[in-house]
Order: sequence, then C-alpha cells, then structure tokens
Amino acid sequence: MSAAVITVENQENAAHKLIIQRSPSMLSLQGSIRVPGDKSISHRALMLGAIAEGETQIEGLLLGEDPRSTASCFRLLGAEISELNSEFVRVKGIGLGNFQEPVDVLNAGNSGTTIRLMLGLLASHPGRFFTVTGDDSLRSRPMSRVVKPLQQMTAQIWGRKGNSLAPLAIQGQALKPIHYHSPIASAQVKSCILLAGLNTEGKTTVTEPALSRDHSERMLRAFGAELSIDPETHSVTVMGNAKLYGQKVVVPGDISSAAFWLVAGSIVPGSDLLVENVGVNPTRTGILEALAMMGADIQLENQREVAGEPVADLRVRSSRLKSCTIEGDIIPRLIDEIPILAVAAVFAEGTTIIRDAAELRVKESDRITVMAQQLNQMGAKISELPDGMEIIGGTPLVGTDVDSHTDHRIAMSLAIAALNATGTTTIHRAEAAAISYPNFTNTLVEVCR
Ligand code: S3P
Repeated sequence: MSAAVITVENQENAAHKLIIQRSPSMLSLQGSIRVPGDKSISHRALMLGAIAEGETQIEGLLLGEDPRSTASCFRLLGAEISELNSEFVRVKGIGLGNFQEPVDVLNAGNSGTTIRLMLGLLASHPGRFFTVTGDDSLRSRPMSRVVKPLQQMTAQIWGRKGNSLAPLAIQGQALKPIHYHSPIASAQVKSCILLAGLNTEGKTTVTEPALSRDHSERMLRAFGAELSIDPETHSVTVMGNAKLYGQKVVVPGDISSAAFWLVAGSIVPGSDLLVENVGVNPTRTGILEALAMMGADIQLENQREVAGEPVADLRVRSSRLKSCTIEGDIIPRLIDEIPILAVAAVFAEGTTIIRDAAELRVKESDRITVMAQQLNQMGAKISELPDGMEIIGGTPLVGTDVDSHTDHRIAMSLAIAALNATGTTTIHRAEAAAISYPNFTNTLVEVCR
C-alpha cells in the first residue's frame, strides 16, 4: 500500500488543488530523488551570462517560473538565450554596458531576485529608459531597500509610494561608487549594489550585518570580475568598469527544495530518503544545522565541489525531533526554509522559538501569518511573534482545507504537513509550487509509492 493518495484537481486559470490523504496504515517514504536546480544560482547564471562577453553554457538550470521571468527580461534587454532546458542552456552575452532599450515593460513575475538584481544593472546603464513590474505579490514587496542605495549612487528611479513599489521607471545613468552599510542581511540587496558597481567607475562596497548567500560573489569571480571580500566585517568590494567573460555554469540541486524532503523524511516514521546532488554552500546550510539541533538524522555523502559550489548527497532517516531556538546570524542562512522548519517544529517535542526573522513578512507572502494560520487550521499550536513564531510541538494534525496564498514555499510546506496528518488535506492554489519546483507533485507521488 502506498503512503498516501495524492490527487490534483485542475481548476480555472491553471489553478489547481492538491489533495493528500494519508493511508491509515501509512508506509514510510523511501527512494532516491533529485531536486531541481538552485533558484538563486539559476538567476545569476542567466544574468551574468547576459552581461558577459561571449557564450555562457548552463547545465542544470531550474525550469521554474522565476528563472523564466529572468530569461524573458534579459531577452528583452538584448541577450540571446536559447530555449530553457535543464540539460543545456546557451546564453550569448551582449557585454556589460550594452543593454538595448527594451520595447516593453520588463516583467519579473513573482521573482524578487529578478527585479532587485536587475535594478542594479538597469540603473547603471546610461542613456536607456526602462520600466519594470511584477505580479500582485511582487508589486506589494518593498523595493526601497534597493532603490535607496541606488539613489545614493545617483540612480534615477520612480515608482509608487515614494519610489518604493513596482512598477518602477528607471532612467539609466553613470553612477557614483558608494560604501553601503545595509541594515539587513539580504543577498538581493548586496547583489543589486554589486551589479550596479560593475558598470560604475571606482570601487563599490557593501557591508551587511550578517553573511547572506554568496552565490553572486562566487559567480562574479568566475566570470572575471575583481572582488575583494572581508569575512570579518561581511564586506564585499567590486571594482568598476569590469569585463565579464562567458563561462560554463553547472547548477547544483536547490537545498531550499531539498529541505521539503529532509523534513518529510524526518517526520514520517521509518523513512529513508536519499536526495542527490544538493548544493551545500555554507551560506545556505542553516537548515542542516537547525535540523541537527532538532535531532534529525541527516548524513552528507559524496561531498564534492562542482563549478565553484560545494555539493553533496543528503541521506535522511526518520527520527524523533525535539524543539530548538532559531535566531541570530543563522536566520539569513535558512530564511527560505523557515516555513518547512515550522512544519518540523509542529511534530517536534517541546516549544520551538523562531526569532529575528521579520524578513519573512515581506517574502512572496507574509510567511509568519500565513504559516501560523494554515497550520493552526490543521490543529497546530503556533503563535505569531513580530519577528517569528512560537510553535508548541506534539499536537497531531488533522487534514482540512488550506491555502498557499500563492506562495510556492507555503504550498509545499503544507503538502509535507499533510503527509503526517490524519484525514484529507486539500491545498488550494497549489500550482504556486511551480515557481521554484515544477515537479514537486510528481516527486511527492514517487516517494510515497
Ligand atoms: C535570494 C535571496 C533571499 C531569498 C530569496 C533568494 C537570492 O532574499 O529569500 O529567495 O537569490 O539572492 P533576500 O536577499 O531578500 O533575503
């Protein structure tokens, strides 16, 4: 007997419901799986490929909606990007400073990384006018975190609510270099300013309060940019008037997508799952540390380095989880995994506290409110904190109707919670998963078989 009955019910406008009914005599989750390419690295490979000279070849690109948004924006800016394919994508770069003025609005869809990183590039391309927008969620997310430092560099950007919300209009300028002390540890802010610094004469520096993911730094160096990094102060400096050269990029599996299986394998008794080819860059492995604190049984096997990024296979076996406190500098290293960590905490013994994570309120949804509401509807005991959650573990979950709020990570987190709930869980607007994990439901069926 399979572990769960999983059905997809299609609705209007490509929306669908994911219905998960755990088998009463539930079997464990077993198998060997692969997760799609890392979203952060996929965006950066397309962007740096587009502004480099020569050809970039990308292996393992994520075919989710977000990188598709990046590809469509950079095609409008003049880069030639072959049809997206996870095996092989070819980008013919146009060289830094050579964007064409796009004939239409650049639409970043749901993707914060696309719009914020692209803004740094657009603002520093003199003589061109650009307009950028996104979907309902992106148009409500704060852009002032990148607009303000870009304005300090003399960028000209206009938008709603004091230039803080998309749609935004940008008149490209020759910018001035700055040393920006970011109030938040955000790779999107850091990368935006570094990308603006590439086409700006002089040295541009970003200092952040804690280390955020460093994929931009690694890939910029690989493409030929001159960077200096001070790990003590979390500062990165890029030399302006850079020249980038097309490279081969191999995108590892996304640890943020692997996280769903790491938690599923931990909480469903008797499970043994191998998630192959996962990126384990130390700026992203907060999830492994948090799950280790909770007593999870996760082994890193076959550790290796692929195209400048550390990679491993992750084996997870089920275990009894216990509560923990997640706060401070680890937060930026697991920020995207907090929704699924909340699910782990619901099944752990004791009270888990998550704090210093106010950033969750301005992600694709307000992930503190939405996770607390949706899991509580299933019987969890979660109270919201201004900057996190308090989760009293150990109360059994009961399947019911829940909603992703069109947030991909919420949709998938709720699906994993449903595996350990009695009865039937119906996840509305589950199609959101395709933003970062188009094959999620297929893999769910596979591991439950
Ligand atoms: C990302 C950075 C993070 C993360 C997002 C991807 C990136 O956002 O939440 O999913 O690729 O740079 P912030 O930089 O806003 O924390």
